[in-house]
Amino acid sequence: MRILITAAVASLLQTCLAANAADWRSRTIYQVFTDRFARTDGNTTAPCNVANNLYCGGTWKGLEKKLDYIKNMGFTAVWISPITAQVANAYHGYYQNDLYSLNPNFGTAHDLRSLAAALHSKGMYLMVDIVPNHMAFAGCPDKIDYRRLKTLNHPDKFHSYCPIKDTGNQTELEDCWLGDCNMAMPDIKTEDPQIAGKMNTWIKWLVSAHNIDGLRIDSVKNVNKAFFPPFCRAAGVFCMGEVSEGRADYTYSYQEQMDSVLDYPLYYAITRVFQQKSNMSDLVVALAACTENQETGCKDSTLLGTFFENHDNLRFANVTQDLSLVKNALAFTMLGDGIPIVYQGQEQHFAGGDDPWCREALWSSQFNTTSPLYKYTALLNNIRNHVISHSSSSSRHRNHHGYAVSGSAPYLAYQTRVLAYTATEMQLRKGEVRTVLSTQGEQSPSWTLKTQGMEFDTGKTVLDVLSCTRYAVNWNGEVDVNMRAGGPVVLVEEDVLRGSDLCTCERGGGSRGYVGIETVGGGEWGPHGS
Ligand SMILES: *[C@@H]1O[C@H](CO)[C@@H](O)[C@H](O)[C@H]1NC(C)=O
Ligand SMILES: *[C@@H]1O[C@H](CO)[C@@H](O)[C@H](O)[C@H]1NC(C)=O
Ligand SMILES: *[C@@H]1O[C@H](CO)[C@@H](O)[C@H](O)[C@H]1NC(C)=O
Ligand SMILES: *[C@@H]1O[C@H](CO)[C@@H](O)[C@H](O)[C@H]1NC(C)=O
Ligand SMILES: *[C@@H]1O[C@H](CO)[C@@H](O)[C@H](O)[C@H]1NC(C)=O
Repeated sequence: MRILITAAVASLLQTCLAANAADWRSRTIYQVFTDRFARTDGNTTAPCNVANNLYCGGTWKGLEKKLDYIKNMGFTAVWISPITAQVANAYHGYYQNDLYSLNPNFGTAHDLRSLAAALHSKGMYLMVDIVPNHMAFAGCPDKIDYRRLKTLNHPDKFHSYCPIKDTGNQTELEDCWLGDCNMAMPDIKTEDPQIAGKMNTWIKWLVSAHNIDGLRIDSVKNVNKAFFPPFCRAAGVFCMGEVSEGRADYTYSYQEQMDSVLDYPLYYAITRVFQQKSNMSDLVVALAACTENQETGCKDSTLLGTFFENHDNLRFANVTQDLSLVKNALAFTMLGDGIPIVYQGQEQHFAGGDDPWCREALWSSQFNTTSPLYKYTALLNNIRNHVISHSSSSSRHRNHHGYAVSGSAPYLAYQTRVLAYTATEMQLRKGEVRTVLSTQGEQSPSWTLKTQGMEFDTGKTVLDVLSCTRYAVNWNGEVDVNMRAGGPVVLVEEDVLRGSDLCTCERGGGSRGYVGIETVGGGEWGPHGS
């Protein structure tokens, strides 16, 4: 009897711990590259030569000790590198050889559970990267010792070897092998029901044993589509897939198989427009491909993972150090549809090139919380988090961590609309938030932009929450905004800011009034991070 009750309670806990898509929609994710975030000893002068492709010493314990660095930037979830045991030197975690063991370089099972508990106590979610496509063996495909691949320890668990030669051939992508003669990557036969069953058992165990709230799934386009719905059901938590492909129809089709995919089509448009200053219409077309086109469309734009840096691609600042351009790109990502993802080091304006150069040790920044993009990221998260809670204040409830969530909040449900655009500017609306973006850069002179289609309430006061400049709404519901140093501008009606610490008066002992219509310059209306 006692055993029965315990089992019942355990299964109940299991059920209500599982975070689903609605729980994740309101989140923002900070991507941690575990080996390069923080060390257990807290050493910030330990060397890390990215060119060596070797472990640099980051751990789950090190991360746990530095969670406030992430939380104080306003993030509500952390994505970490794959946790499974690896072949030698696989510091990134994508070369696993044992599904049921953890990577001892990152710590123990106890350390990982402790990290999950620490995140949950701060109201944050844990997202773990997983690799259902392949195992790894350091050698040629014909030399594999299958006994080394613990759970799947026989060649019949894998497709017979063929290299992927034509990446445009879907059969080849799914059935042939990634890797080469330095690193063979035996391709798991995920379409075999028995093997799929083993994978489902594994993921169910992985999620519950480590209190995981969501999964980032690697190499999705190399796995048969039908594998995913039962796999994600077995996981019982939010699934976001990596389909590293810019074609909207191809990538978004995978959202039929799982809750979310990383928005690679939008990633390419963001970098073309803000990094390379291509025509803003490029971004307009990319947005429409997801939300307005039947052929290429996505199932739910508000669940896509939006980003413009990660551990596989050159960083924004490798192309341009213009602070206005990166701020515009970040405002677009953080205040648009989708679940925003920021990759560690973005907030420190790291400038590494393609893999492995974009995998710098974050500790080299001394975890600087006063650097401009750290403060700016905190401000954007503050805006997003505040508007979500403001927008849902009538329908608010609390989840199992006591954290306010809002599955059906108007702001989150509001699909971003393009109000107007030119080759260099774009005006957007998502619910209470209107954004003006520009690609003119930080050197551009100040000018006045007349908004179009904002539909503010006449007679209201609107604030640019980035500069805390106040504007009176015209008779036609528009404002004339001051574009300084290339923007961006983020406009909300004054009422929306009630209850936040955004644009509160820093002088005058906590008084929160605003006096007159004035422009910044005196430093009186300083933006507050969280
Ligand atoms: C940090 O690591 C560096 C290089 O390995 C070493 O010289 C230094 O003594 C370490 N600092 C501490 C406080 O352990
Ligand atoms: C795709 O690859 C498979 C397996 O290599 C091959 O049998 C098939 O002919 C290829 N299809 C096309 C259209 O090239
Ligand atoms: C871009 O990345 C490459 C490779 O890491 C590096 O050599 C170059 O210095 C980087 N550019 C900038 C501006 O940092
Ligand atoms: C942190 O960043 C600020 C602003 O860029 C800089 O002035 C300061 O020296 C940095 N602090 C450390 C410890 O690097
Ligand atoms: C930008 O794109 C729009 C729409 O395609 C086009 O009409 C315009 O001429 C382009 N402007 C420039 C400067 O390329």
